[in-house]
Amino acid sequence: MNKDIKLVLDYIDNNQDRFLEELKDFLRFPSVSTKTSHKQDIKNCADWICEQFKSMGIENVWQNEEYGNPLVLVDYKVSEDKPTLLIYGHYDVQPEDPINLWKTPPFEPDIRDGKIYARGAADDKGQVFIHIKAVESYLKAHGSLPINIKFIIEGEEESGSEAIDKYVKTHQDVLKCDAVLISDTGWFAPNYPTLSYGLRGIAVFEMTLTGPNRDLHSGMYGGAVANPLIELSKIISNLFDADGKITVPGLYDNVLPITEVEKAEFAKLPFDRKEYMEDLEIKGEGGESEYSIVEKVWMRPSLDINGLFGGYIEEGHKSIIPSIATAKISIRLVPNQTFEEINQKFKAYIESVVPASMKLSMNVHHGANPVVVDINNDYIKKAQAALTKAFNTSVGFTREGGSIPIVELFSNELHCPVVLMGFGLDSDNIHSPNENFVLSNFFGGIKAVSHYFEELAY
Ligand code: BES
Ligand code: MN
Ligand code: MN
Repeated sequence: MNKDIKLVLDYIDNNQDRFLEELKDFLRFPSVSTKTSHKQDIKNCADWICEQFKSMGIENVWQNEEYGNPLVLVDYKVSEDKPTLLIYGHYDVQPEDPINLWKTPPFEPDIRDGKIYARGAADDKGQVFIHIKAVESYLKAHGSLPINIKFIIEGEEESGSEAIDKYVKTHQDVLKCDAVLISDTGWFAPNYPTLSYGLRGIAVFEMTLTGPNRDLHSGMYGGAVANPLIELSKIISNLFDADGKITVPGLYDNVLPITEVEKAEFAKLPFDRKEYMEDLEIKGEGGESEYSIVEKVWMRPSLDINGLFGGYIEEGHKSIIPSIATAKISIRLVPNQTFEEINQKFKAYIESVVPASMKLSMNVHHGANPVVVDINNDYIKKAQAALTKAFNTSVGFTREGGSIPIVELFSNELHCPVVLMGFGLDSDNIHSPNENFVLSNFFGGIKAVSHYFEELAY
C-alpha cells in the first residue's frame, strides 16, 4: 500500500522558510578542501551535518576521520524486506576566487531572483541538503522512512576523493546497499529533469619549469638565459595541432568512437547552439571541428590549462627573467581511457619536450576514470517516475562532461546500480563567481527524492 505522499509534500511546503534558513547556515561554512587553511571549517561543517540528522531523531550518525577530511555516515534501517538506498554527496566546495567578481560575498548566502547565491549552493551543498530535507520530511510526516537509508557525505570531492576511496575499499559491509543515489550533476536544460548515465574522468597535473636559480635582471641576462615562462608557453602551444587535436602521443588510442545511434540520440536533445554561444558571449567554438558541442563535452577527451603563473603579476612592471613558471593542467577522459594510462602518456610526452635549459618538476595531483552506468534497471525507472511526479514533465537521459571520482568505485565495489539524479543547471555558475541554485529546483528536488523513497518502497 502506498503511504500518503501528500503528507510529506505538505510538510515540505509548510517548512520552506526554515529549510532555506538552514541551507544558508550550511552555506556559511567556507569548507574549501583544496586549501589546507580551511581544515577547521571542514570539520565544523561535518559536525553541523551530523547535527542535522541527530536533530530529526536519527541515532546512527558518525564520522570517519581515519583517511582524510571527515566522512559523514548515516545508517537508518527500517526493515530487512525493504531496499537500502545509499546516498552520496560532498560538503566541500571549490575556492571562492576571484572574490571581486562576486556580487555578494561567497559565504554570506543571498536570495534574489528565485535563486540562492553562495559558493557550494549547487555544487554540492544545496543538492546534499535536498536529501537531508527529504529524509526529514518523510520522517516527520510518517514517523519513519519507507526504505532503509544510508548516507556517505565526503569532504574532499573537489580535491580528488582520496579518503572516501580508501573508506569504500575497506568498508563494503558498512556501505552494503541495493542502489546508490547521487545528486551532483545537472539538468540538460531548464524544465528538463535529467538522469545522467556517463561522466568523464579527469587527470590533474601541476608542472613547473625552473630556469635560472633566481629571478634575474632582464637587461643583464636577457638574450643569454632562457625564460621559463616562454619555454612553458611553447610547450603549451604545441599541445594542440591545427585541427584542435591534442598532440600527446597515444592520447586517443583507447577512445571509443561515437556510434551512429549515440549521434542520433544526442542530436534529438533540446540543445540550442546559438543560445549557448550567447550565454557565454563567445563567437566561435574550441576543440575538434568535426564534433558537435555535446559530443565534444561528453564523448571526447579535452585538455585545459586551469592556471598559469610565474614572474611578476602585481601592479606596474618589473623587468625580470623569472626563475620559475607553473601550469595547472587538467585532462578530461572518456571511455576507455584510464587515469593511469593518461598520466603516464602525458608525463612521458612533457619530459620529451622540455629543453635542456629547464628543469621540470611534475606533480600528478589526483584523478578519476570515466564511467558509464547502466540505465536498464528498476532503480532508474523509478527515478524517472519520481522526477516526472515532482516536476510534471518528461525526463531526459544524458551524459556529463564533469567528473565525480568515487562513482567508478561505487559501481565496482558495491555491485549495484548508481542513479545520477542531479538538480543543477548550466546557469548555476559552479566553480565560478556567483554560484547559485534555483530555489524551485531545490524544493522540487526535495519532493522528487521523497517520491523516489516512496517509489522504491512499494
Ligand atoms: N559536481 C561536479 C561534477 C559535475 C559537474 C558533474 C557538472 C556533472 C556536471 C564535481 O563537484 C566536480 O567538480 N568534480 C571535479 C572533480 C575533480 C576535482 C577531481 C571536476 O569535475 O572537476
Ligand atoms: Mn560536485
Ligand atoms: Mn565541483
